[in-house]
Amino acid sequence: MILTAEGVGKRFGGLVAVDNVSLAINQGEIFGLIGPNGAGKTTFLNCISGFYKPEKGTVTFKGQNIVGLSSHQLCHKGIARTFQIVRSFAKLSAEENVKVALTFGRGKQQKSSKSVQELLDFVGFTMPKQMIAENLNTMQLKRLELARALATNCELLLLDEVAAGLTPSELPEFIELIKRIRDGGVTIISIEHVMKFIMEVCDRIAVLQFGKKIAEGTTAEIKDNPKVKEAYLGEELVH
Ligand SMILES: Nc1ncnc2c1ncn2[C@@H]1O[C@H](COP(=O)(O)OP(=O)(O)OP(=O)(O)O)[C@@H](O)[C@H]1O
Ligand SMILES: [Mg+2]
Repeated sequence: MILTAEGVGKRFGGLVAVDNVSLAINQGEIFGLIGPNGAGKTTFLNCISGFYKPEKGTVTFKGQNIVGLSSHQLCHKGIARTFQIVRSFAKLSAEENVKVALTFGRGKQQKSSKSVQELLDFVGFTMPKQMIAENLNTMQLKRLELARALATNCELLLLDEVAAGLTPSELPEFIELIKRIRDGGVTIISIEHVMKFIMEVCDRIAVLQFGKKIAEGTTAEIKDNPKVKEAYLGEELVH
């Protein structure tokens, strides 16, 4: 187990956004977190990545309690994330964006041995590296986000809707990239609405609804789970 969350709870005023959620993530797996809008997926990820301190529960990363640590401290321990709303430095070039992550990522000892160019190549970034981030298209920006995360030499990568905004023709290549990142030794938790992505990429999936975990299992188990079908109110689970 690389990460274990037990009974995690987070509220915003009267709203229980994450309600007693427990998950155990195996080393080297791609774990999908799905659920309707507002289900608490991003909030849960924020509780793991140090953005929020959960009011209840424990989160253990590689055997160590990480509740209360900042995102910065967690980055040094080996947890990186991408954001639902892309957060690259808009006015910096692609190269500078990755350089910042390389420099401030995980500290000298454990920093990535890869160069900026190697990281950009690895994620399939095909534009000139001098290009300013705000001028990049969605696909290239997503690739840049991943290069920045990998520059921190993370062991656990948290993805928040990384496939959103990609065209159906861009998806297969992106799916390959995510698998390649995992094959490079990175465990992945991925929040996603794009079902093709989830079904093709994930080893296991958990489903949240109104802050609660309503199902967990392999892709095949989740596809056929009546509670999950109901949560999605007839939305087609497999595109
Ligand atoms: N900072 C906040 N302050 C108050 N309420 C919040 C805050 N962040 C999230 N919420 C509420 O908590 C609930 C869970 O939100 P969250 O963003 O975690 O859902 P989500 O599953 O990521 O949804 P989506 O699929 O739309 O991204 C929602 O009802 C949301 O309105
Ligand atoms: Mg979200």
